[in-house]
Amino acid sequence: MHTAYRSPAIALALQPCADLQTDLLVIPVFIDDDFNDERTLDAASGGEVSRARARGELTGKLYEALATATSSSNWKTARALLVGAGNRKDFTAEHLRRIAIVGGLHARLRRLTHVTVVDRAGTSVTPERAAQAIAEGLCLANYDGASYRTVGQPTSWVEQAQARISSDGPAVREALERGHVLGDMSNEARTLANLPGNDLTPRVFAERAQAIAKDAGLGVEVLDEQKIAALKMGMLLGVARGSQEPPRLVVLRHDPPNAVKEVVLGLVGKGITFDTGGISIKPADNMDKMKDDMSGGAAVICAMSAIARLKVPVRVVGIVPMTENMPGGKAFKPGDVLISAAGKTVEIINTDAEGRLILGDGLWYARELGATHLIDVATLTGACVVALGKSTTGLFGSPATWVEAVRRASVRAGDRSWPMPVFDDYKDQLKSEIADFTNTGGRPAGAITAALFLKEFVADLPWCHMDIAGTAWAEDVKPYQPKGATGVGVRTLVELALDAATWGAQNLKD
Ligand code: BES
Ligand code: MN
Ligand code: ZN
Repeated sequence: MHTAYRSPAIALALQPCADLQTDLLVIPVFIDDDFNDERTLDAASGGEVSRARARGELTGKLYEALATATSSSNWKTARALLVGAGNRKDFTAEHLRRIAIVGGLHARLRRLTHVTVVDRAGTSVTPERAAQAIAEGLCLANYDGASYRTVGQPTSWVEQAQARISSDGPAVREALERGHVLGDMSNEARTLANLPGNDLTPRVFAERAQAIAKDAGLGVEVLDEQKIAALKMGMLLGVARGSQEPPRLVVLRHDPPNAVKEVVLGLVGKGITFDTGGISIKPADNMDKMKDDMSGGAAVICAMSAIARLKVPVRVVGIVPMTENMPGGKAFKPGDVLISAAGKTVEIINTDAEGRLILGDGLWYARELGATHLIDVATLTGACVVALGKSTTGLFGSPATWVEAVRRASVRAGDRSWPMPVFDDYKDQLKSEIADFTNTGGRPAGAITAALFLKEFVADLPWCHMDIAGTAWAEDVKPYQPKGATGVGVRTLVELALDAATWGAQNLKD
């Protein structure tokens, strides 16, 4: 097995395109581009840029790419990839991030190892945001999901890269570094989510989490099945009963000396290393994809690693309950009643609704450890995929200001998300004859009843649930997104922590 990603060296560059020395220049091209800020490009291409525009081959349509030689004048670099950037007035850092990915992927296919991404002048993207987005994009392009392949050519990587920005300064350098860490940690989360269930068992997942935490200087504790039992986490233990593999609960701590006083972020991630559905077993079609049912847990672990590396001045605890969901002889069954660590009792209707069970105990523990603001990340429901599709994460929670804080962070992160209602009216669907409530509410509003289940375990803390069932795994190939694990959530959680550090608790309340 080879490594799934490589971290490229990324430097800032301020020169005009003509003076940049690299294997491939990646240049955004706008619709109706006047090239006033890059006047020598057409000549360098020997007029190919104007000819391609006349042919309709270089319209500026987003992510449409055209490779051209740039050796006709005194440019130091021989080739450029011109990538459609849409309208200049609508240009955002997210476009630039994706253009950097397009460029990085193109370079790797042609075995070019040195890439420079150009931030064009005259857009509303600040140099800081541009530097961060380019660094993120170049890292994200340096990921290869086929890490178990032993035949064929070995993968080529971007080894060295540059971000060509209009201005320099400490803030820009910091942003470049931030983008680098966020890109690398997104790739680490993709790597974990991509690992097959036979290799990433709960015990192995916990070991990997421990190693990642130690590398980043985080506090880490791994609770085994005895310690989980001592905490009376009946829901986590219930799900784990069907498997030969024992469960784990990973606790990560970021406790910097200069932290803002009032806030302790509590991040909880679903860590189901494989979800068969248990006794309520899933159909065979696409069951293989259920190896990624720990993507939320991976996002929490990798976000905390980034938060520690970036020394974000806010306290954070991360909780990841880890188990398989298997239909073994001792498995929990429909009709069983489980007692949660919080003391509430749950009648199991469907053992495939296991994520909410382990998260309920995890959310309770985050509160026990002093969290003041909760976020959970989980591949929780197929219903969320029906509602929002494969590109948008569902947000659920209260108060609305806290959910909005998460949404805003996700915009900056380039993780699309949208709020969904969690009206109490839906709670009737979770009524049980025998226990406090059931673990499923039927087909209608399935993503919402799942969120309402979680809400039973957050007391009255601000809480936001991110349902990443649709967004954790990409099915369609896009110019900026290969098939496979996406690393969704990592950058959103880190951006949120950065916000929390500057706002203080006051602004995080309703
Ligand atoms: N891990 C699944 C959710 C899922 C489904 C993620 C499809 C990605 C793609 C979760 O544990 C699950 O099985 N949910 C059930 C809940 C139902 C039984 C109430 C679902 O969505 O079908
Ligand atoms: Mn399930
Ligand atoms: Zn699941």
